Amino acid sequence: KTTERRAADGVVTVAGLDVRELAQEFGTPAYILDEDDIRERCRAWKDAFAGSDVFYAGKAFLCRALVKWIAEEGLNLDVCSSGELAVALSAGMDPARIAFHGNNKSAADITRAIEAGVGRIIVDSYEEIARVAFAAERHGVVQKVLVRVTVGVEAHTHEFIATAHEDQKFGLSVADGKAAEAVRRILKLGSLELLGLHSHIGSQIFDTAGFEVSARRVVALLAAIRDEHGVQLPEIDLGGGLGIAYTSADDPKQPSDIARELVDIVKRECAAADLDVPRLSVEPGRAIAGPSTFTLYEVGTVKQLEGLRTYVSVDGGMSDNIRTALYDAEYAVSLVSRASDAEPMLSRVVGKHCESGDIVVRDAYLPADLGPGDLVAVPATGAYCRSMASNYNHITRPPVVAVKDGQARVVVRRETEDDLLRLDVG
Ligand code: LLP
Repeated sequence: KTTERRAADGVVTVAGLDVRELAQEFGTPAYILDEDDIRERCRAWKDAFAGSDVFYAGKAFLCRALVKWIAEEGLNLDVCSSGELAVALSAGMDPARIAFHGNNKSAADITRAIEAGVGRIIVDSYEEIARVAFAAERHGVVQKVLVRVTVGVEAHTHEFIATAHEDQKFGLSVADGKAAEAVRRILKLGSLELLGLHSHIGSQIFDTAGFEVSARRVVALLAAIRDEHGVQLPEIDLGGGLGIAYTSADDPKQPSDIARELVDIVKRECAAADLDVPRLSVEPGRAIAGPSTFTLYEVGTVKQLEGLRTYVSVDGGMSDNIRTALYDAEYAVSLVSRASDAEPMLSRVVGKHCESGDIVVRDAYLPADLGPGDLVAVPATGAYCRSMASNYNHITRPPVVAVKDGQARVVVRRETEDDLLRLDVG
């Protein structure tokens, strides 16, 4: 789908641009984002979920240009902090199309969201219900809310990114009755309008069985609410989480497949419970932003460790991609600035940080003649890489360069040493 091509001389182009020229103009490391790719994915989700709502999960990656693209493509936006909300608003996103998330929103976050006029707040605790109701009342508005429920699903993904089993911080449990109690409390409050229920089971999921269980339990709770209160809530949101291919071993589903499966399950369960089918929404982050971007690095030191492997150091590392160190994530990597006939050698691509866990790609085969000045690219770094980037070791964060139709433009600029020093006011 992307506009990447490899010419006969081995040089990769993206959107018609030679990676060597991109490196020359914008420096390395750099996140190279293919605007057409991200727009196509937005369209694919929008088309697949026609009749439902798609909220792009801004935590995967957010900047003003991206907010504009997703708004133009007809998607809504999920934000999970006042900072993400600020980016969305400054890019002119219609607040009515914003959903505000978070397990520990402060009174200030809630006031900010209500003053901005966000379309929906996903409430995550009893305290928050009271806080949102209070703030809405003070501002003389009726705030639309959904309740984040925990459905007790073990999603088969890394522990830190699974979110719907019982022993974790998010949501109100269906099993112990807290979700039903939250609904009772909200229905009594005149300043809140309960739109529905929200469930997010985790991230980088390939197996849709978890979504099926989640949909079933959410619909069962809708039926229980109808039986108890005589009201049918109009919406359910089944969250994000669809996995993407990081290496050729991954075989992700298409949005159209997941849409068909989710809509079928919801319809079937509603029919069984004699409920009207609620409006469905989903919140893909990674599946939209992830595949759109690769990180371009320049190779520096190469060390061959006899009998072990070759360590290929690049000019970035865990500060621009923490996912390998944090989740044991797997990435691919390839030489993109020339062709090579040299033997493939077992390599580990590492960064420039003072830490041996600073690994970008744990195991990869790279040509034995790789050396300083070569450019390598790590694909699928559009989600949770720039957004989780740090300044560890006072390394400046790379720019995001958007490419389209032979043109490149910086949408997030590279940090400078001045940026680093600006906050240090002691
Ligand atoms: N909705 C909610 C309520 C979420 O918590 C998340 C992700 C999403 C949607 C989007 O999920 P996605 O479609 O992107 O899987 N930093 C981790 C991922 C954390 C995901 C947190 N929540 C990583 O790098 O894998």
